[in-house]
Amino acid sequence: MDIEIDITNTQLETQRLILRPWKESDLCDFFEYASVDGVGEMAGWKHHESVEVSREILQSFMADKNVFAIVYKENSKVIGSLGLHTSWANGDMNYNHLKLKEIGYVLSKSYWGQGLMPEAVNGALRFCFDTVGLDAVTIGHFAYNNQSRRVIEKCGFEFVKQCEYHVKQLQKDVIDMQYIMSRDRWNSYRIAESRS
Ligand SMILES: CC(C)(COP(=O)(O)OP(=O)(O)OC[C@H]1O[C@@H](n2cnc3c(N)ncnc32)[C@H](O)[C@@H]1OP(=O)(O)O)[C@@H](O)C(=O)NCCC(=O)NCCS
Repeated sequence: MDIEIDITNTQLETQRLILRPWKESDLCDFFEYASVDGVGEMAGWKHHESVEVSREILQSFMADKNVFAIVYKENSKVIGSLGLHTSWANGDMNYNHLKLKEIGYVLSKSYWGQGLMPEAVNGALRFCFDTVGLDAVTIGHFAYNNQSRRVIEKCGFEFVKQCEYHVKQLQKDVIDMQYIMSRDRWNSYRIAESRS
């Protein structure tokens, strides 16, 4: 079952990152990473060809109140986004009785490969289970997106199934790999991490 989320007064902190609501003043940073060809495309949207496109999307992030800006503490720049969206599992009889959200994310290409998104996802999972009280969090990646697959594996999600669908913005059919993290699985991960 879908849960209403409002992150208006929420700020999450991890070792290197702050996740907070978007602000109008984030426009330049947003356009800087969202205009790079091949970044958004891996997540299902076309890179932004003008700052006006970024402005419109930023307005929707602020209105929807369910997408965090990811701020790199070291330079205070917004370097990505992490959203809590409606989950594919709401349409699955095995899961639709659970309180669910789906994580989606993008990181500026200049910051890839430092484990920043796994860090952001872990912060978001903590928020989803400890503060929001969700039963499970889902996530997915296009079959060919190995970078996102690695983030999902490293965070400990369990693979559930794959499904094919059409991505309108990119005008192509993709295979989406779908995963879930239950509250129990998250707790056992957390215990294992605290021991290591
Ligand atoms: C997916 C994404 C968020 C990963 O973030 P990240 O902080 O770089 O994640 P990690 O540092 O854990 O790296 C994940 C994998 O990316 C690969 N990778 C790392 N640096 C890379 C680089 N510069 N170029 C290509 N791949 C790279 C590695 O395979 C790494 O896995 P490993 O740790 O097993 O070696 C980021 O690549 C991204 O924003 N991609 C475009 C948008 C996207 O795919 N969104 C997800 C849609 S489902």
